[in-house]
Formats: sequence, C-alpha cells, structure tokens
Amino acid sequence: MQVRNVESDVLIIGGGMAGCGAAYEARTWGKDLKIVIAEKANIDRSGAVAMGLSAINTYLGMRWGENTPEDFVNYVKGDLMGLVREDLVYDVARHVDSSVHLLEEWGLPIMKDEKTGKYVREGKWQILIHGESYKPIVAEAAKKAASEIVSRVMITHLITDSQDKNRIAGAVGFDVRDGSFIIFKAKAVVLASGGATHIFRPRSVGEGWGRTWYSPWSTGSGYALPIEAGAKMVQMEIRLVPTRFKDGYGPVGSWFLYLKSKATNVNGETYDTNRDRLRANYGAYADAKPMPTCMRNHLMMEEIKEGRSPILMHTQDALDTREKEEAGWEDFLDMTVSQAMLWASQNTDPKERWSELVPTEPYIMGSHAVNAGAWVSGPEDLAPEEYQWGWNRMTTIAGLFAAGDAAGGAGHKFSSGSFAEGRIAGKAAVKFLHDNSGLRTNLDKEVIEARKNEIFQPLENYQLGKQFITRGSVSPYYLYPNQGLKRLEKIMDEYGGGITSFYSTNSTGLGRGMELLDMLKEDLSLLGAEDLHQLQRAWELNHRVITAESVMRHTLFREETRWPGYYYRTDHPKIDDANWKVFVVSKFDRNSGNWSLEKVPVYNILRTE
Ligand code: FAD
Ligand code: ADX
Repeated sequence: MQVRNVESDVLIIGGGMAGCGAAYEARTWGKDLKIVIAEKANIDRSGAVAMGLSAINTYLGMRWGENTPEDFVNYVKGDLMGLVREDLVYDVARHVDSSVHLLEEWGLPIMKDEKTGKYVREGKWQILIHGESYKPIVAEAAKKAASEIVSRVMITHLITDSQDKNRIAGAVGFDVRDGSFIIFKAKAVVLASGGATHIFRPRSVGEGWGRTWYSPWSTGSGYALPIEAGAKMVQMEIRLVPTRFKDGYGPVGSWFLYLKSKATNVNGETYDTNRDRLRANYGAYADAKPMPTCMRNHLMMEEIKEGRSPILMHTQDALDTREKEEAGWEDFLDMTVSQAMLWASQNTDPKERWSELVPTEPYIMGSHAVNAGAWVSGPEDLAPEEYQWGWNRMTTIAGLFAAGDAAGGAGHKFSSGSFAEGRIAGKAAVKFLHDNSGLRTNLDKEVIEARKNEIFQPLENYQLGKQFITRGSVSPYYLYPNQGLKRLEKIMDEYGGGITSFYSTNSTGLGRGMELLDMLKEDLSLLGAEDLHQLQRAWELNHRVITAESVMRHTLFREETRWPGYYYRTDHPKIDDANWKVFVVSKFDRNSGNWSLEKVPVYNILRTE
C-alpha cells in the first residue's frame, strides 16, 4: 500500500464554504505558512453549495443602515428559542457583510436595484444572487491561497499529539481514487467538514432513495471527527426540519419572502399565524416575533396530524408576472435543479397550479436555523470567561478550530456566515501558531499504524467474506455500508424523533434506540467494502453513527421540548425555562467509551432588546 505524508502548518479539513474562507484568511495573515486543504471531493463543486444557490441568506446591509449586528443577534436568539452563543453570532454578524463584498469582487453576480444600487433583498436578512457558479468562484480564491489541495481524500480520524493528548497534531485518511493512506501532520487544524444528512430515514425511498434537501455528502464528519478526538460538543440535540417542496426538496425562502407566495391547508385556510395554538405548552414563546422557524413547522405539523393536508403552496397566485415566473424557475435552477426537473417530469406548471409542502426528515447542522457542533472559544472582546479559553473558534482541543456547520452555538450563518466564520477561524489558527512559535508536533507511530489497519479493514472483510457468499452479493460474514446505513436510519427514525413517529420521542424510546445503536456499533467492525468507493461509504457510515449517538444522548439529557416542530419529547412536552434554558455540552472519552454531559449557562451579553 502506498503511504503519503503531507506536512503543513495549517491543515483545513473540508473545502466547502467555511474551508475556503479559512484558506483565504489564513494566507492573508500567514504569508509564509504551509496551508493545506484536505477535501473529500473536488473543491470546485464540493459541499452543500455544489449545485449553486439562489440567495445569500445572511447579509446585514450595514453600509446602507439596513440592520445592525445587535438586530441580527436578536433575530437569531429569537429563532433558536433563546439558546445561542451571542458572542459567536455577533462575531459572524460584524464580519459577514465584508465577506459578501469580497464574493462580489471575485465575480459573484448579486442582484442590484438599478435605481438605488442596493442589493435586491429577498427578505430582511437575505439577498438574491445568480448563484449557479457560487462555489467555483469561492474555490478559486481558496486555490490561490492554499499551498496544496489534496482532493479526493476522506479524512477518517483526527490525530492528537503523542506528548500532549489534548493538542492536535494532524489527521489521517485515504485517497478515494488510488487507495493510498495519507498522514497529515499539522500544527493547527481548521475543521470545516460540514453537517450531517442520512442520519434519519429520508422521506425519499424506493426510486428516490438518496435524495435529501441537505447534501448527501454531508456525512457527519464535522461532528464525528471532533467527538472521537475528545472535543466538547454543544446543541447536538437540535435538528433542522426544513419545510420543503415535496419530493424535489425545493427550498421555500424565496417563495415566502420574495415572491410572497402563500401556503394554506387543504381547505385553503392560512395556518401559520395561529399563535393561540402555541400558548398552552410554549407560553410566552407563542408571541415571539418573528415566529421561530420551528414553531412555523409546528403549526404545519398540527394541520397534517389533524387531517388538513396536503399543505399547498399557491405558486399560481405568486407568479403573476413574467419577471416573477422567471425568478421562481431560476430559484430552483440555481440551487435545487431536482425541483425544476420534478415539475417538468410531473407536468406541473407552477404558474397554473399549487405544489405540496412537507416537513422533511431531520438534519444535523450548525449553519442553518439550528446550531449543533463543536463547543468553541469565543472572540476575546465579547466572550465571557466561561466561553473563552484561548483563540477564537478553537475547540476544547488545543490547535483544533471549527467553522461553518462544524462549529456549534451560533446558527443562521448559511453560506456567507460559514465563509465569514471560516475566515475568523483561519485567522485565529494563524495567531495560534504565531503565539506558539516553538510548537513541535509529535505523531505516535503505533497510533498511526493502528489507524491504518482499522481504515482498510472493510476491504479485507469483503475479500474474506465473499468466499462465503450465499446469493448475489450476500454473505453472512460482512455487512455492506448501505445495509448499515439503512439500519441506522431506521433506528433514528423510529426512536430518535424522525418522520415515522412524527418527530416524537421519549426516554424509553431513546433508551431502546441507543440499545439498537450499540448493536449496530458492534457490527461496524464487520463492514465489508468491495472497492474504494464502498470504503468511503463505510467511513461515512462510521461518522454518521458517531454523530447519531451524540444526537441521541443529547436528546435524552434535555428533558423538555425546546424546539417544537423540530422534535418533541412526549414525556416532557413543554418548554421548561427554569431548568433548561441552558446549553447541553457533551464530551466523549474514547479510552473508556464514556460520555459525560453537562449544563452550561446561556449568557445574555449584549443589550439586544
Ligand atoms: P459545506 O459547504 O458543505 O462544506 C463541507 C466540505 O467538507 C465539503 O466540501 C465536503 O466535501 C467536505 N468533507 C466532508 N467530509 C469530509 C471528510 N471526511 N474529509 C474531507 N472532506 C470532507 N445558504 C445560503 O446562504 N443561501 C441559500 O440560498 C442556501 N440554500 C441552500 C440550498 C441547498 C439545497 C443546500 C444544500 C444548502 C443551502 N444553503 C444556503 C446553506 C449553505 O450551503 C451552508 O450553510 C454552507 O455550505 C455550510 O458551509 P460548510 O463549509 O460548513 O459546509
Ligand atoms: S435555504 O438554506 O435552502 O435557502 P430556506 O429556503 O428554508 O433555506 O430559507 C432561506 C431563508 O429564508 C432563511 O434565512 C430562512 O430563515 C428564511 N425563511 C424561510 N421561510 C421563511 C418564512 N416563512 N418566514 C420567514 N423567513 C423564512
């Protein structure tokens, strides 16, 4: 087997929005440093922005006096039912506009009002773009900044220093094309490997299997890598259940906010303004303005449960001009081509008739209307002592930084905020190196060797097991990644609050789900991979399972229903501010296999109201 060694000062794992931002900024502050990006795919079209986007969802418009960072903190806090790290949200807010200006300078076409010269707003925080080529534009800047980009490498594990187990020393993985084992040695690492889909069984099954709204290649590496290395995590219980156009998973933002399309129940009644229905369980949160994303979902779910579905998006009333019709189609052609294709293939002309809306399966993310991820240190001018232990966005492992979906506590970063947060993390990683100029990293040869054996074991399992194939490709001696994935999705769906149980769970269900997860974990050592593609699938499954376990443990720990419409603890159906207006922070110890969970206070540090 070929073994490759790649040494760097700063290693960036994942070349998506946050990773590209990190590379750009690290180069600005670290002119002579060796900056390496390790990316599972090819950064020109990798990550959640691969297809393109039709909007930048986080732009304050400070130069035109449209919003202030305080306004943004207030909005994000309200949307996430009070549980946000204000220091982190503020930090993104004060940097995000200048990041968007950079993107425009690099060639991203942002729609402008001809008369005022201002960006055309989709909503209070969102601006419209012609975004098909969004990712190649961002990638070009990262390519210029990075010393080296190692493409098609699946990072499987982080490596900590042999002399100091709580300091990062690099990562290992394999080339998914030629199968070589790659050892990355680094003095600082920025983790930017995205969110997690296919943890829960998706609504798309059968011929549509694999289709999800969030990208299927977001496989939980943003969470499993730091968890396994012993970093603390936060808000892993919150999951995003976005409202989407049925089956094509077309996003709704442009339709609601820009095209002013209306959704109704099957009787043509508006359902999403009925706050009275929220009061009994959710108290004062029922009057939150604007209504939090999860509660909008909740009202839709109530309609469905009570038999007033399908929920109808009345596109036919919204597309009343040629311009709007074009904007509606471009929205999907720029961002979710599958939705436009589905319309075409099902003879649906959105100008003529409504489309159905559904709540999707849950996703784990740190960049949308949720904020799961690593527990990171905050900016020194804002973060209270408890939220600060060194460099901005550094996890609880020294030298390991996180950004985008991988960094918890903030939320509503979206593409622009993830890019801005990547820049913040990249700059901080360089400062970490400057402040620790004598730093030496030490890799333990035995640990690396053990990882190598572990990584390639599924190939060997297949070679041995295939001799006992009973029929087709079925063997009693191995488990295919695909089979393991389906088992994981079923467990999480039925016990963790997925679509089958209508997003509900309770302590008994979670307990049973975790028992079944344990059995799945036992079987993971028997994963069989026929080729390198399947080996990648095997490691993606490993990462998804670690992420799923963290989600289950956090969900069990929080004894309340904080985000109705995302998930329900049926044994604790109310919001309980007295006991649970706190963060849940967890830590996994890989030596003992134990998890510890604790409550950490949520501080209101800005006078935002
Ligand atoms: P990503 O951009 O997903 O990057 C993660 C990277 O890590 C990827 O390149 C991936 O290949 C790589 N990676 C993963 N695992 C590994 C591994 N083990 N080893 C090596 N590399 C790995 N935002 C907006 O602002 N406006 C919108 O209109 C909008 N619409 C969206 C529509 C859709 C359909 C989707 C899917 C997303 C949308 N978003 C939108 C959200 C936006 O795309 C995300 O918030 C943003 O991309 C998150 O950035 P990130 O860097 O954390 O993750
Ligand atoms: S996207 O990431 O795929 O673009 P989506 O279309 O749901 O997600 O949201 C885009 C933006 O619009 C986000 O900022 C989201 O919070 C906002 N949004 C979506 N629907 C609504 C709504 N009904 N009311 C207010 N804001 C909304």
